[in-house]
Amino acid sequence: MPLLLAVVLVVLTACSGPFPQSALAPRSDFSTSLDHLFTNIFWWAVVVFLVVEALLLYAIGRYRARPGAAAPKPVHGHTALEIGWTLAPALILVFIAVPTMRTIFETAGNAPEGALRVEVIGHQWWWEYRYPTLGIGAANELHVPVRTPVQLEMTSADVIHSFWVPRLAGKRDLIQGRINRIEFSADSTGEYWGQCAEFCGASHANMRLRVVVQLDTAFQAWVDRQRAGPAAPAQGSPAERGQKVFRRSACIACHTITGISQGKIGPELTHVGGRATIAGALFPNTTDMLRRWITNAPSLKPGALMPPQGLSAADLDAVVAYLQSLK
Ligand code: CUA
Repeated sequence: MPLLLAVVLVVLTACSGPFPQSALAPRSDFSTSLDHLFTNIFWWAVVVFLVVEALLLYAIGRYRARPGAAAPKPVHGHTALEIGWTLAPALILVFIAVPTMRTIFETAGNAPEGALRVEVIGHQWWWEYRYPTLGIGAANELHVPVRTPVQLEMTSADVIHSFWVPRLAGKRDLIQGRINRIEFSADSTGEYWGQCAEFCGASHANMRLRVVVQLDTAFQAWVDRQRAGPAAPAQGSPAERGQKVFRRSACIACHTITGISQGKIGPELTHVGGRATIAGALFPNTTDMLRRWITNAPSLKPGALMPPQGLSAADLDAVVAYLQSLK
């Protein structure tokens, strides 16, 4: 009995919220159509389960061996029965196949005229976004306006990844040399979590992402901020010292900060201070995490390409201050 209670308790905890990555709490047209399909097929499965279990229980009760009873007569070549159990599953499959095909076409990624285009490039292990019509870029945190069709055009810089934000859209593969599309329109503002859904190496599980769905005005303000150059650090501030350290360190080989460096291997950092997370949306963007991340990234995220940076404590503080100033 205590064991049963324990099991029930564990199972019931699965019923409490919140569900940041539940496909059963859809917030876009894309995920709503998947949810409808799931519900539809779930109830077909319930019907099949009930019919099969009822027949089973009936047969167990009605035909069980009783002392002294004669052996039952086996049935051979019962045409009606055979047609029945062939037709019934075929019919059920039709009822499942038709809505499935419809959902596949609905979510095929054909965007209406005027949809916001975003290029998504998967990297080991982070996400790069480019907004070709707005002339801006971003990393790991995707901003989109609410109730607006968004078309993601997705490819990979290395191995196969898969874009998945359960409450909004996905999964769909990102494959080098080709473009796969997703089109969705989020129906409420907020933050949505997602992650790579295709095994892509040591830090596959750490390849997370955030989608920030905003009102038009907030989105436009974000776009304007991204368009502006990096904030110039104040004269004599730690951030200004940090900019000098950044300029003469290995950082510039991999990272872009507009007007400062042009590295293309790691995420662009022009507005890194304005993001809520770092390292593929894995850690909060705090002073402590930035320090630890720059000091030894691979120890926090296995396989991370950024090698440990042998900066002095003073230089490290200065660089962190500089990055945080880049709102
Ligand atoms: Cu990228 Cu898994």
